[in-house]
Amino acid sequence: MKRIFKTGMVNESAPVAALKAGEVSWQSPSNIALIKYWGKKGFQIPANPSLSITLSRSFSETTVKYKPVAAGKPQINFFFDGKPNETFAKKIKAYFGHIKDELPFIQHLDFEIRSRNTFPHSAGIASSASAMSALALCLCSIEKKLSGSAEADDQPFFERASYFARIGSGSASRSAFGRLASWGKSAFIPGSSDLVATPYKQPINAIFENFQDSILLVSKGEKKVSSRAGHGLMENNPFAQARYGQASENLGNIIFAIETGDIDRFIQIVESEALTLHGMMMSSTPGYMLMEPGTVEIIKKIQAFREQSGAKLCFTLDAGPNVHVLYPKFEQNTIEEFIKLELQHYCVNGQWINDEMGDGPKRMI
Ligand code: PMV
Repeated sequence: MKRIFKTGMVNESAPVAALKAGEVSWQSPSNIALIKYWGKKGFQIPANPSLSITLSRSFSETTVKYKPVAAGKPQINFFFDGKPNETFAKKIKAYFGHIKDELPFIQHLDFEIRSRNTFPHSAGIASSASAMSALALCLCSIEKKLSGSAEADDQPFFERASYFARIGSGSASRSAFGRLASWGKSAFIPGSSDLVATPYKQPINAIFENFQDSILLVSKGEKKVSSRAGHGLMENNPFAQARYGQASENLGNIIFAIETGDIDRFIQIVESEALTLHGMMMSSTPGYMLMEPGTVEIIKKIQAFREQSGAKLCFTLDAGPNVHVLYPKFEQNTIEEFIKLELQHYCVNGQWINDEMGDGPKRMI
């Protein structure tokens, strides 16, 4: 059975009679947005384009075992870190409800899904991005296996995974690709789309190769307001339209900075994006704050250190209190020393994660 979707992608789902048991597994990384997606128009369509760095060591690993439905309704058993997790299982059931028409085989299979993260869940490291992209990649692998077509981890495969990842979590669409990835239609990025992410193909100055991201864990607690609720609050935010315009403009400017190696401009845009994201949260109704006192202290210290030393570092934030410190590879020793001396004591148990730009998802089975 072949169906063409509005994405132009081909659905190669197997006929139900051909369903067999099997197992697939993917590692998929988190990503950190330089230009932030915050606000939607319609179902999982971004209100503005975004651009992110795909990380290397912060990833989810998801293994899916599947077999034809044994009795009645399909079963989904979900284990996080080896333990059954009903909350996540419910989220996955809801997600499967959204994609079952495009991946019809999921209604005829029982699933055992096991997932783990290399970083704390719900703490501003985009765990939904890595988790949803890993799951979407597994589903696309199952689709390939069931349809009997050769496994090819090529661009159309990752695009299809990006499409299904987006339905689970917008930012997850970008995790299907390594290095830099964008999501959302933009005149500045040829081939960009609101439906799938696009690997970044424009020139990248050497200063941005192997870009580093030290993630300072200011709090490991659950977020008070989910990203889903936060996106929803943008609908009545009086600054929303100006924000969407600013993001689109910032994207054009950061592309130019990335090409020309203008790291000062890059730093200015990245920090403005982070503060604006949290400004949008504060100016929503009801307003809320995800930054903690430690987040603010770290931001001030980074800005002061940059001013005094001239070091090329900047901060960015996800929808959470943790701080991502971004810097070029050549600054690694200076920045690590600075973090140990001045920032580490703000972190829970002195914990921080040294990560960097990575090559994207990896198939395990
Ligand atoms: O992907 P979601 O729906 O969890 O939204 C996350 C959005 C931010 O992480 C705050 C920004 C981004 O572009 O990743």
